[in-house]
Amino acid sequence: MSESVTRTQVGIIGAGPAGLMLSHLLHLHGIESVVLESRSRREIEATIRAGVLEQGTVDLLNETGVGERMKREGFVHHGIYLRFGGRTHRICFSDLADGRCITVYPQHEVIKDLVSARLAAGGDLRFEVSDVSLHDITSEAPRIRFQHAGRACELRCDYVAGCDGFHGVSRPAIPSTTRKDYSHTYPLGWLGILVEAPPSTDELIYAYHARGFALVSMRSTTLQRLYLQCHPDEHVDAWSDDRIWSELHTRLENTEGWRLKEGKIIQKNIVAMRSFVAEPMQHGRLFLAGDAAHIVPPTGAKGMNLALADVRVLSQALDEFYRHARSDRLANYSATALKRVWRAEHFSSWMTSMLHHFADRDEFQQHLQVSQLEYVTSSTAAAKSLAENYVGVPMG
Ligand code: FAD
Ligand code: DHB
Repeated sequence: MSESVTRTQVGIIGAGPAGLMLSHLLHLHGIESVVLESRSRREIEATIRAGVLEQGTVDLLNETGVGERMKREGFVHHGIYLRFGGRTHRICFSDLADGRCITVYPQHEVIKDLVSARLAAGGDLRFEVSDVSLHDITSEAPRIRFQHAGRACELRCDYVAGCDGFHGVSRPAIPSTTRKDYSHTYPLGWLGILVEAPPSTDELIYAYHARGFALVSMRSTTLQRLYLQCHPDEHVDAWSDDRIWSELHTRLENTEGWRLKEGKIIQKNIVAMRSFVAEPMQHGRLFLAGDAAHIVPPTGAKGMNLALADVRVLSQALDEFYRHARSDRLANYSATALKRVWRAEHFSSWMTSMLHHFADRDEFQQHLQVSQLEYVTSSTAAAKSLAENYVGVPMG
């Protein structure tokens, strides 16, 4: 069968939050794009991942016309709870972060809203593509080759956006001689569960316990999202429902009469924890965004927010190029994005270190950890620092 050739301005690899939002923003600037995704639409709309949207992310969704359902169905939270030593302490964003707050609204719902906006606007999204490869990225006419519906296809474009997550093909297309990877792997995993029960709390509870970290979150008025620290290489089969509830009750124990609501566990999964940054986030006409360029451990809820902040910067740079034939912002894309990335890397790593149990920490280090928790929950200066990072530093 003959090869199918398509021409567009920006070829986008990956239909996660980064790729879909980039395509949406470019459309609003009058710039054409084609999005190539290896999974099916059904799969990307059903994968349970992040839940916390920073104020800047909420503003971006609202300002670009895709925030309607989030406004109706999301939970606006003005603080979080930190629990340790059986006592709960509130970090109040309204007091500490200039009125900014967060919204709990699941990532797969953001995905659904973006897919439907792109399709309603006639956007070109190709699902279930395979064998994606990048060519001529240092020329002015880069190409993406792939298979789709049994046909060999080529996408010719001015620019390529690598939004294909940590395991994608875009980052490896930057030669290792020009790219430096920074990474740290933690001896930690998170077991995440979805539970058919109404939320147990009005705001998220981050709990430190000698048996390990626990997190109480939510998805809707009838679904809870809960996380437990575990070994990164453990299998979910090692976690029976009884073991999960017993650990959760122990780690969330308190002297305040609060109790976790139980329900039917309808999903379990384990994720390993890693910090990772690839520099620079660009090479020739290829620009990386989101998890393709950087990973944070989930403790600070930053991953999806960072992905959306990257593509906001990238869309503005591409707009400057197409509107004014200037490429200064494109040239500075990586440097601009990395400032925010490294701030989030530090915050996520710091939250992870403060809230988890590390088997290799000696008693001295454990005392330091508890002292840090006491400081952050008793000093306004320390709490303010946590709050302003949690609600998110300004985008771009
Ligand atoms: P992805 O979402 O990974 O999307 C990349 C897409 O590219 C995928 O759809 C993939 O199928 C596709 N793809 C891959 N390879 C190819 C290829 N070769 N060709 C075509 N397509 C390809 N972040 C937060 O901000 N807040 C939170 O509360 C939060 N909690 C989290 C909890 C957990 C348990 C986990 C695992 C993550 C959490 N995150 C959170 C992180 C967040 O989910 C990610 O950072 C976010 O998905 C990154 O978006 P992305 O678009 O860069 O990449
Ligand atoms: C959720 C995930 C996080 O990583 C976090 O820090 C808080 C909440 C969630 O999935 O709800």
